[in-house]
Amino acid sequence: MFSMCGIVGHVSSEDSTRSEDVVMGGLARLEYRGYDSAGIAVGSSTGMTVVKAVGKLENLKAELATAGDLSGRGAIGHTRWATHGQPTTANAHPHTSLDGDLVLVHNGIIENAQTLRTSLQAEGYKFVSDTDTEVVVHLLAREFLADDEEGDRFGREVEIHGVPQDARGTAGALARAMNRVMRWIDGTFTLLAMHAEAPGVIVAARRSSPLVIGLGEGENYLGSDALAFCEHTHDALEVGQDQLVVVTATDVTVADIDGNQVQPKKLTVDFTHDRASKDGWPTYMEKEIHEQPRAIADTLADRLDSEGYLTLDELRIPAQVLRTVDKMVIVACGTAAYAGQVARYAIEHWCRIPVEVELAHEFRYRDPVVTEKTLVVAISQSGETMDTIMAIRHAREQGAKVVAVVNTPGSTISRESDAVLLTHAGPEIAVASTKAFTAQITATYILGLYLAQVRGNKFIDEIQDYLDKLAEIPHKVETVLSRAETVRQTARMLAQETSVIYLGRHVGFPVALEGALKLKEIAYIHAEGFAAGELKHGPIALIEDGQVVIIIVPTPRRPQLHRKVVSNIQEVRARGARTIVIAEDGDNSVDDYADVVFRVPPTPTLYAPLLSVIPLQIFACELATAKELDVDQPRNLAKSVTVE
Ligand code: G6P
Repeated sequence: MFSMCGIVGHVSSEDSTRSEDVVMGGLARLEYRGYDSAGIAVGSSTGMTVVKAVGKLENLKAELATAGDLSGRGAIGHTRWATHGQPTTANAHPHTSLDGDLVLVHNGIIENAQTLRTSLQAEGYKFVSDTDTEVVVHLLAREFLADDEEGDRFGREVEIHGVPQDARGTAGALARAMNRVMRWIDGTFTLLAMHAEAPGVIVAARRSSPLVIGLGEGENYLGSDALAFCEHTHDALEVGQDQLVVVTATDVTVADIDGNQVQPKKLTVDFTHDRASKDGWPTYMEKEIHEQPRAIADTLADRLDSEGYLTLDELRIPAQVLRTVDKMVIVACGTAAYAGQVARYAIEHWCRIPVEVELAHEFRYRDPVVTEKTLVVAISQSGETMDTIMAIRHAREQGAKVVAVVNTPGSTISRESDAVLLTHAGPEIAVASTKAFTAQITATYILGLYLAQVRGNKFIDEIQDYLDKLAEIPHKVETVLSRAETVRQTARMLAQETSVIYLGRHVGFPVALEGALKLKEIAYIHAEGFAAGELKHGPIALIEDGQVVIIIVPTPRRPQLHRKVVSNIQEVRARGARTIVIAEDGDNSVDDYADVVFRVPPTPTLYAPLLSVIPLQIFACELATAKELDVDQPRNLAKSVTVE
């Protein structure tokens, strides 16, 4: 079974190489979703061509270069991240029917694939791959061929309304076949299918996996997300749960599972092509690290009304409901969960609401105490993390209201939540999250201040003061970025390390966890983040001569906190550690105990993570670069984890 994956489709009305170009360009943007094999099918008036290759997209490009003319009027493509089995050419998508006429790409997992496979094999279907997807292509081919025959093995025939008529009725027949298959298969899927008889038609379907339609002039697009086609159009349509789509060069039809036409929600793709390209940077990660001032500023922009009150246009939970909230639970995974941990310190302080932060996958299976008075905040860059989706579904079933803090408009999490607060970080392509993290902290802070305003915990001038200080952060981030060279030099010197420890206290603790995660993810170095206070309860046993320890020091304007962390530095130093310290400008108390100091401008304690995380991101990025690793696409990882 295979999943995650990126999917792209394109249709036009004449044979040309445009479809191949659009699909390959889209796959390049979606490669962050998976990158262990890729494939493309191009349909032309003379037939169907399928080209696949194991490994990165480069390999597929090389195959295509020798494949001859690939003109067509439709193409579908796929980039894959294997969950089970080997990334082989046979397992790569698109998958093909026995007669070679029907091609299919799939993202998701078909749960009843084994049963269906056995019965198809009994009918004589030969399988060439280990994938669940191949089951679907055979089923679809069988139902397509059976369209004219009497009876429906799926119980009832559904007419799909509004499908454009083509000469041979292929679009209608393929749509009916897809509808039957949708009712037959269990699990999660986005499916895109194309038939040699009508190469300018793509029939698609989705259940719990993402799919967006892009609208062009005399051509149309399909993608796992709008990044797939953002360089061609800004007009998009959302596809809802269990909906079927028929796309031609000039028509888009969306129908529900009963065949009734539905009006899909319009979506404007607000990120530009530039924001999705490397723009001269050697890696996306470096570019995205440097985009943080803008990501934070854009996330803060336009949040006040004419009287100076914080207004959140997207927040659709009535104020009276927010006033009754007696507990908040932040659910997220990975970096987003660390952003949630930072947010807890601010929200509890400002709003006096207890805040729990829980990894979405743990929350879901713990029978958590959630009521109508619980406000659940789901943080997710992609808006497609399956663990987080399952957590919010569970929370809503218990009556809780869910606010989504997401970076991808129209994503599943934003659609399935009661309210959405968008981070405006722009597309994040590097697998290791950077600008999404700082934008998520910014957005959850806005949420916290909004709650404090609505619930009367803070006066308008106090909130204004907090916002003013937050507005200074983008400039301070610029300052930190301008000092990157010291961080880079240090990273290069430490390229041979095998273990790095990160320590932080208060909001510095989740920053330590995030710093360690970055190093693990892209530099493959064993790294651990600890609460500095926990040091003496165990981790200090790890310290031996030469152990590298990175310590995030709070502002000296919080003397109690500050003093304790400075003692922690001395404790590890006394046991032979090499220490890298992140400290405010002018805090000389650390100088005697630090091998290197990374300086950040003075800032209020709660905002410090927005600055102190930056050197840690640069450190990991430079170290991975020094080790000649693939910074943007680290081994074994995918950006968007769309399976549980
Ligand atoms: C994956 C990515 C991480 C990310 C996490 C949550 O594990 O590799 O970088 O933090 O998913 O993703 P989300 O899209 O929900 O923020």
